[in-house]
Amino acid sequence: MTAKTSDIEMAAGVLRAGGLVAFPTETVYGLGADAEDPAAVARIFQVKGRPPSHPLIVHIGGAEQLGDWVEDVPATARLLAEHFWPGPLTLVLRRGRRVPLEATGGLETVAVRVPDHPVALALLSAFGGGVTAPSANRFGSVSPTTADHVSAELGDAVDFVLDGGPCEVGVESTIVDVTGEIPSVLRPGGVTREDLEAVLGYPLAVPAASPVRVPGQHPSHYAPRARVVLVEPEKVLVEPEKVIVEAELAQELGHQVGLFLPASLAGAVVKAHAVVALPDSMAAYARGLYRFLRELDQQGCDLIVASLPVEEGLGLAIANRLRRAAGPRPSSTGTVPRQ
Ligand code: TXA
Ligand code: MG
Repeated sequence: MTAKTSDIEMAAGVLRAGGLVAFPTETVYGLGADAEDPAAVARIFQVKGRPPSHPLIVHIGGAEQLGDWVEDVPATARLLAEHFWPGPLTLVLRRGRRVPLEATGGLETVAVRVPDHPVALALLSAFGGGVTAPSANRFGSVSPTTADHVSAELGDAVDFVLDGGPCEVGVESTIVDVTGEIPSVLRPGGVTREDLEAVLGYPLAVPAASPVRVPGQHPSHYAPRARVVLVEPEKVLVEPEKVIVEAELAQELGHQVGLFLPASLAGAVVKAHAVVALPDSMAAYARGLYRFLRELDQQGCDLIVASLPVEEGLGLAIANRLRRAAGPRPSSTGTVPRQ
């Protein structure tokens, strides 16, 4: 879906004036500001309720602009950019002087990507600069994959919302650190590890364990209101009846249970508040993941029992988000604080 030229022009004007624009990408909707305007960047953190030490991604209009935003472009970064951009891949490189520390959470590295969405690319082209944007949701909660989700999350706090229809990929970009000798994946996402290794021709490095510093690495993230309990893929495969009986028991005990089950099993559930029949294709599961979580919240579920996919290909990114959604929450009420 494309947007009207007049809307793109207006959105670019809002960015130039230091405002915030929510825009579609192929992964999720972003909450954008002029990457070179520290006051506008600061507003992103305020609106999201995100701690200022958590770095943002700078979105640019084409791979040829990468050198404008980073100190240097190593050969591996060039190779990956040429291969996967525009697309759901974010590269972490040494920060160029053009990028204010407000955008990188004080880090000397910067995350950059070229989104693969006609509306995002039109906005970047009309604006002419870099647009720094996290996902357009409150800190810790589920990323938006439609313009309606953005409005539900952020309401009037955003100056302009560009509607580009539902996002194709549905989970965030893969983040690859290319500052070291061998690239490593910091967050699995729309480009799979298998795809990256095929292009590189060698295995990716295992990232060094780091203290929680970036939201994607926070134990609880991408979380709906309802508590999330996970079911490992082997259990769904070997004893599906048990998964269903346990969920039904939770419902009988007074929970409002929402179940994520493979479509072949969904019909067997009798007692649950809501059932999501998961598509067989990982691409369709990823595309629907955040919408499913939102829908179960809206339907009043307080407990989501979600079957995990096998952790390969796109399944790795889906499982990563579900594990974080099920992670320990900061408060005892089981809900992530929303600001
Ligand atoms: O698909 C996406 O990546 C979406 C769309 C809008 O582009 N954006 C997104 O942004 O997911 P956000 O802010 O929700 O997540 C950005 C992640 C952070 O969680 C952090 O893990 C990583 O990017 N990041 C940013 N700068 C970094 C840096 N200098 N070093 C390491 N990680 C960084
Ligand atoms: Mg996010």
